[in-house]
Amino acid sequence: MAYESAAKAAAFIRSRTELEPRTALVLGSGLGAFADSVAQAVRIPYEEIPGFARSTVEGHAGRLLIGKVDGVPVIIQQGRFHFYEGYDMEQVMLPVRTFGLIGVERLILTNAAGSVNSDMRPGSLMIISDHLNCMAVNPLRGPNDERFGPRFPDMTNVYDDEMQEAALAAANAISNERAAAGADSERSDLVHRGIYCALSGPTYETPAEVRMYRQLGADAVGMSTVPEAIAARHMGLKVLGISCITNLAAGMSGEAIDHEEVMETGARVADVFGELLRRVISKFGSGG
Ligand code: HPA
Repeated sequence: MAYESAAKAAAFIRSRTELEPRTALVLGSGLGAFADSVAQAVRIPYEEIPGFARSTVEGHAGRLLIGKVDGVPVIIQQGRFHFYEGYDMEQVMLPVRTFGLIGVERLILTNAAGSVNSDMRPGSLMIISDHLNCMAVNPLRGPNDERFGPRFPDMTNVYDDEMQEAALAAANAISNERAAAGADSERSDLVHRGIYCALSGPTYETPAEVRMYRQLGADAVGMSTVPEAIAARHMGLKVLGISCITNLAAGMSGEAIDHEEVMETGARVADVFGELLRRVISKFGSGG
């Protein structure tokens, strides 16, 4: 069933564009603005795509875009399906599996996340080096379809080393350029590399939970990304994950956490974030 759904969605998308994107991008909460910079985009609302659910969370547009970034064909998921919204994992994974079936080879996953590492402050970016799946469910639970991948997928290198290095180098270059231009000199800690811990949500964590995840090795906590990363690795796609650190996690600042703050920080870093995405897409799109 899952395979047939993805195949149907893939055939539908192919019928709507001549482009053959090899790179896909999933835009997280508050990070949708990047989609506006895509040239000649075909926009397809989820309700038109066979099998796709609708995205219900505030700040998520709910459509795919196929267009070009710096001349490189890309397919963009603007608004993802979160487990906390009540979707089952097959629905959460469907867009990524569809991308795999239309020939995408590299997937860039972005998200908003809370920092559990006091060195990483809001407004900085974290290149994901590895993850902790604390969602209490594995998205691949259930019968395995070998057409997607093996029953027991290896998770040794979920996040592609070369893509991580490229993203770090690009972010550092952007940071240096901005400092040189006097744009924001306090941005010397723009980019970090760290471990993303996925939780099912929709509550934010308690301070005790935040201390626990920190002890487990997490640098950031969020409510997405890991199911899609797993689905992508199952199919052999290369994955890059970038978290926008929107807030300090619960108990770290004494302040309560609210969705508005998360969205506002996303908007504040939109320029830098967009520039980073553009450079990474352009590097790999041109065969680099
Ligand atoms: N916790 C979980 N998910 C999040 C957070 C957080 O603090 N901020 C943005 N997404």
